[in-house]
Amino acid sequence: MLPAEVLERAREEMLDWRGTGMSVMEMSHRGKEFVSIAEKAEADLRELMAIPDNYKVLFLQGGASGQFSAIPLNLAKDDGVTVDYMNTGHWSKKAIAEARRFARVNVIADTEGSHFTTLPGEGDIRVDPQAAYCHYTPNETIAGVEFPYVPETGDVPLVADMSSTILSRPVDVSRYGIIYAGAQKNIGPAGVTVVIVRDDLIGDARPGTPKLMDYKTMADADSMANTPPTYAWYMAGLVFEWLKERGGLEAMGERNERKAGKLYAAIDESDFYTNPVDGACRSWMNVPFILADDGLNDTFLAEAREAGLVTLKGHRSVGGMRASIYNAMPEEGVDALVDFMADFERRHG
Ligand SMILES: Cc1ncc(COP(=O)(O)O)c(C=O)c1O
Repeated sequence: MLPAEVLERAREEMLDWRGTGMSVMEMSHRGKEFVSIAEKAEADLRELMAIPDNYKVLFLQGGASGQFSAIPLNLAKDDGVTVDYMNTGHWSKKAIAEARRFARVNVIADTEGSHFTTLPGEGDIRVDPQAAYCHYTPNETIAGVEFPYVPETGDVPLVADMSSTILSRPVDVSRYGIIYAGAQKNIGPAGVTVVIVRDDLIGDARPGTPKLMDYKTMADADSMANTPPTYAWYMAGLVFEWLKERGGLEAMGERNERKAGKLYAAIDESDFYTNPVDGACRSWMNVPFILADDGLNDTFLAEAREAGLVTLKGHRSVGGMRASIYNAMPEEGVDALVDFMADFERRHG
């Protein structure tokens, strides 16, 4: 979902952005109008996340998956370099597979044995001090597990794929070397990828790194070494304004915790629905749940759709259902789902 207010604002500005007679889609990325949009979006994101001055904010293309390649290309200078990864779900696994093409990967934590329903304990993470970086996925979108802590990695730069949790609560950016996220969950429409990277990690890419994947090229060109995804960048800016108007990440975090809490409570109180994830690391954004009778899945989805509740089918690797309750999902949306689930259980349980 995108916030309704953001979509309405985009509709109002669609044909004529602030008296320019142009749609944002029609603007040159080098023109002063778009440059002002781009700069405002970056300034608002910096304010929302309290990003320190020694970090660059890049608005790139290629999705989070593009960063699976860009991270080792920029941070692992040659094939001999060792990098640490935590394997905690579908997306970490993909990041690891890609990193293996460029560097020697040590998997320092692996929860596949629990079908990705647990996470390593805070004290169990042992990072190799020689590793070029340590990569993890704070929120695994498919299994619905979320780290309740930031791993301690000493001097080894911590790299986080925050695609499905960025902006959902405050984070201390200074704990990270790199934070990256595809936009399409909490930032805006697909097409733009936000990379927040500490200055000292820029400028030492492997020889042969494609120019547009080199953070230095993009940082030096203010993310405009080629034509950026202008409309998605603009929409991201509208979302950042929306977040600021609603009290920023502190307020968003409280709201997200409350939303998730209601849904988990409803699941836990029922004998009909179950959530397989360890209570200590349940996601605030993605809530998988399984029906007592698998044979009712199609009926559940059909009736939910009738009730206006859509996109609930779980990933095939987990089965059952998955509610994605990102920032833009209003609390009433969660209430409606909880009511529907209780009613469905009464009729079919
Ligand atoms: C945690 C996480 N990482 C990476 C990706 C892949 O993102 P993209 O499609 O932008 O490459 C996703 C997509 O859902 C995701 O949830």
